[in-house]
Amino acid sequence: MQLLKNKVMQEGIVLSDNVLKVDSFLNHQMDPVLMKEVGREFSRRFSHEPITKILTIESSGIAPAIMTALELEVPMIFARKHKSLTLRDHILVEKVYSFTKQETNEITVSKKFLSSDDHVLIIDDFLANGEAAFGLARIVEQIGAKVAGIGIVIEKSFQPGGRLLQEAGYQVESLVRIAALDNGCVTFAEEVIS
Ligand code: G4P
Ligand code: NA
Ligand code: NA
Repeated sequence: MQLLKNKVMQEGIVLSDNVLKVDSFLNHQMDPVLMKEVGREFSRRFSHEPITKILTIESSGIAPAIMTALELEVPMIFARKHKSLTLRDHILVEKVYSFTKQETNEITVSKKFLSSDDHVLIIDDFLANGEAAFGLARIVEQIGAKVAGIGIVIEKSFQPGGRLLQEAGYQVESLVRIAALDNGCVTFAEEVIS
């Protein structure tokens, strides 16, 4: 997605060989016009799927997820990383390990908002090792619903998440794929034109 590539080139800050800071449009300040286009692009790429729900994880997945949900006119659910006071029973729980943070978190979704008939599109802002996306997929599968696909705003394709998710049989659509972050430079992966 050229618009997003431009934004990464103009505003992305390479913090290290494996971390890209994009807090001016995705992770802190958010760009609603760009997120609207992101939502359009995801809805286009998954238009062959009968999607009934969008699922993401708080907090940075919420903006691209809600814009996709708006485009498809379906509800959006975000998994919580912290236990809610009012969300105690009837919840789906999965453990998600973060290599970046070296900690395991429990993510939760209320059973009220997913059913076995659902076709769920998973959306997230970043894809690194794929732990968050796999955790979300396990939540969907726990209730007997179908994962319709996985939409990622920025994939770091030098990390294994994208390959692992594809090997597991999921359709992964990443709007921008970064091949390397060496020497303070962003190198984009070749785009496969379909
Ligand atoms: P994984 O799910 O693919 O295995 O990723 P990982 O555990 O490494 O990611 C932990 C957190 O770091 C996630 O955000 C993820 O979006 C973010 N992240 C991973 N790589 C990058 C990167 O290169 N740049 C930026 N900006 N973020 C990255 P989170 O802790 O869940 O935070 P939130 O922003 O969603 O609240
Ligand atoms: Na994030
Ligand atoms: Na995220």
